[in-house]
Amino acid sequence: MTAPSPADPAPASGSDTSPEGAVEVAGGVSTQAASVLTGLGAAARSRIAKVVFWGNLLCQMGIIVTGGVVRLTGSGLGCSTWPNCEPGTFTPELTMAAGIHPFIEFGNRALTGVLSVFSFALLLVAFLWLRHKGSGFLALAAVPLIGTGVQAIVGAVVVWMDLHPGMVSPHFLISPILVALSAVLVVRLYGGDGERHSLVPAALRWMVAAMAALGFLVLVLGTLVTGSGPHAGDPDSPRLPLDPRTISWLHADAVMLFCGLLVGLLIALHLIRTARPARHAAWGLVIVTLLQAGIGYLQYFTGLPEILVGAHMLGAALFAAAIAWCGAALYSWRPAAPDESAVIALDADGTPITAQDGPR
Ligand code: HEM
Repeated sequence: MTAPSPADPAPASGSDTSPEGAVEVAGGVSTQAASVLTGLGAAARSRIAKVVFWGNLLCQMGIIVTGGVVRLTGSGLGCSTWPNCEPGTFTPELTMAAGIHPFIEFGNRALTGVLSVFSFALLLVAFLWLRHKGSGFLALAAVPLIGTGVQAIVGAVVVWMDLHPGMVSPHFLISPILVALSAVLVVRLYGGDGERHSLVPAALRWMVAAMAALGFLVLVLGTLVTGSGPHAGDPDSPRLPLDPRTISWLHADAVMLFCGLLVGLLIALHLIRTARPARHAAWGLVIVTLLQAGIGYLQYFTGLPEILVGAHMLGAALFAAAIAWCGAALYSWRPAAPDESAVIALDADGTPITAQDGPR
């Protein structure tokens, strides 16, 4: 991600590192663990914050992949109940009839547990050490935990509805949103503590917003392809009444439109010589999109082998993270000197260009 320098999660303004202060800082979370956390030095805080933020992002992406493994191995109903795997037992039991399926489904549920720990730790770290980044940052830091809770409930509904694609699709689509917001949190961790200011003209920000909306449409159409194809849920679960071929081409057409906008964005970013992190993020999105589109066509023309479909799901997770990275890289939270704050680039003569000037 865009990481000019590691974050130094400085103590929250007004925070107190004394044991009494720890109770005050943690508010309702007045546990011994909270007082230990508030007593740590800056370097240890920085390391822990990085592990927690990256861990949350990787788990949010991982859950998309393990969810895919559940689906591709037909293990969606491997556990017949929720939260227990079978009535009266939390963990799966090996039987000849059920085979490996309950274990795959249980592994997916276990990763949800790890993800819950990371998302809770993220909120705690943000609350204890990063409050100086502002209330917007704190609100954002609450999203992974809330979203994981929502996903657990939606996942239960999916099981109760026998993996109906009308429910599997929203269950899938919540995850890339959580991935995207988790990626923004990582960028924010490294990206300074000041007021947010834009590094590009408004037109480019709108363009990236349109790309994010179109990217989400690509994901929605992808789930419709899956919901009408051979890999939806398990062999007995219902299918969407859509022609898989037609919906596949609509899905691919939306990707082409997205690629067109991405080329336009790249040209604009280079023309106005915007800050390097924004250009790097845009190139990162190019690489992810091209690889993902390549896998998409390959799986389509080779009869949807499970391994490629799984790789396509990993690609979808990376795609969501890359769009978010691209959007967040258009801003900076580092305080700029007053006379430099409006400068977004230099023209060929080295003359500063400001956002008000627009692209030249
Ligand atoms: C940026 C590019 C792309 C993204 C982000 C993307 C995303 C997705 C997503 C999210 C799914 C649904 C996964 C699920 O519900 O489990 C999907 C399925 C699918 N995509 Fe794409 N896709 C892209 C490009 C393409 C392209 C160019 C094609 C070519 C036709 C394609 C073909 C398919 C097919 C055939 C499926 C159904 C796979 C199955 O049966 O499970 N994709 N895609």
